Parts: sequence; structure tokens; C-alpha cells
Amino acid sequence: MRSMWLRVLQMLLGLWLTLADARLLKFTNVKCLELPTNAGFSRYEYCRLKVVRRNQVELSLKVSLLELPITNLTTRLQCFQRSDGYRPFIYNILFDFCKLMAARKYRISFERFIFDAVRQHSNFNHSCPWREDHMTVERYALDFTKVNMPVPAGVYRLDFTFYAYGIARTLTQVYFEKLE
Ligand SMILES: *[C@@H]1O[C@H](CO)[C@@H](O)[C@H](O)[C@H]1NC(C)=O
Ligand SMILES: *[C@@H]1O[C@H](CO)[C@@H](O)[C@H](O)[C@H]1NC(C)=O
Repeated sequence: MRSMWLRVLQMLLGLWLTLADARLLKFTNVKCLELPTNAGFSRYEYCRLKVVRRNQVELSLKVSLLELPITNLTTRLQCFQRSDGYRPFIYNILFDFCKLMAARKYRISFERFIFDAVRQHSNFNHSCPWREDHMTVERYALDFTKVNMPVPAGVYRLDFTFYAYGIARTLTQVYFEKLE
């Protein structure tokens, strides 16, 4: 009797893992760059992925902000899909990062979807003027149960370019893979 239950349990676990894998979404690489026009505005302290277990990859990054307070922050968010190099894929949007952080009722959009997913793992809970001397994302892993991206299997890259006062300061490139 006991061994039967054990077998059922194993089977369910196996099934669950298969289902999880079937919708798997995980980070594969991250790059953080200060752009030539940064002009001493910010500095990356770290930017890395950590594999915590198979198919669980956590993203952490910290950027020090050297010119406070910040009253004007704009972000370009661009998505690429890998196929013979990286090609633009659907999203290329420019939005007011201060407004996104401040507004509880920011319109439903791709940028809000991304931001809401990351928020609890970051210090993106201030509105502008931004007075804290850094921005961080700590140990954020893509969770297929929360992030169900309706995109085909493949490798993708999200480019976040941050502008302060209209000048491009940093570029963060996040690579992830969706397995079918
Ligand atoms: C933002 O988050 C930090 C860390 O969790 C917390 O200490 C701080 O009080 C929060 N600030 C606001 C404005 O919610
Ligand atoms: C931010 O600064 C840029 C460049 O000065 C300006 O074009 C833009 O309108 C500003 N955004 C806000 C929300 O003030």
C-alpha cells in the first residue's frame, strides 16, 4: 500500500516537472553597460545571474546613482528574438519611468507587466524625485506560473536603456529562453 502511494506520488511529481518544463522560461545571460554618454551619472556595482537549481536562475544587479536627486527618468524597452542574429520583436517602447513607479493605476501595458513582476525584488518603490543612492534588483527569477508570456519558444533579449534628462545613461540587456 505504502509503495503504491509512493509510486503515485513519484508519478505526479514527474508529471508536474514535465509540465513545468513544458512552459519553462529562464534567464540565460545579462549584460550591464554604462553608455558613453553616462557622464558620471551612475555606476554598476554588479550585474549577474546565479543558477540556484536546475531551471531556476536568479538575476541580481545594483547600480549606484551619483547625481541625486533624479527628477527625470525615461526608459526604452526593446525586445529582440534570436533568429540569425537578434531581430526586433514586437515591443519597442519609450516610457516615463518616474510615472510608472509613481502611479498605482498606470495603464495595463508591457512595461507595467515587467515592472509589476520585478517590483517585489527591487527597490523600485519610490516615486520621483528619486533620492536613494542606488537601484537594485535582487534575486529575481522568472516564474512561469506568474509570467506566462504568450511568445513562441526561443531565445529573447530585452534591452532597457535608461535616460536621465533625455541623455542615455545605461543599457541593461537581459537574455531569456522559452522552452516548449
Ligand atoms: C521601499 O522599499 C524599502 C525596502 O523594502 C523600504 O525600506 C522603504 O520603506 C520602501 N519605501 C517606500 C516609499 O515604500
Ligand atoms: C525629461 O527630460 C527631457 C530632456 O530634457 C524632456 O524632453 C522630457 O520632457 C522630460 N520628461 C519629463 C517627464 O519631464
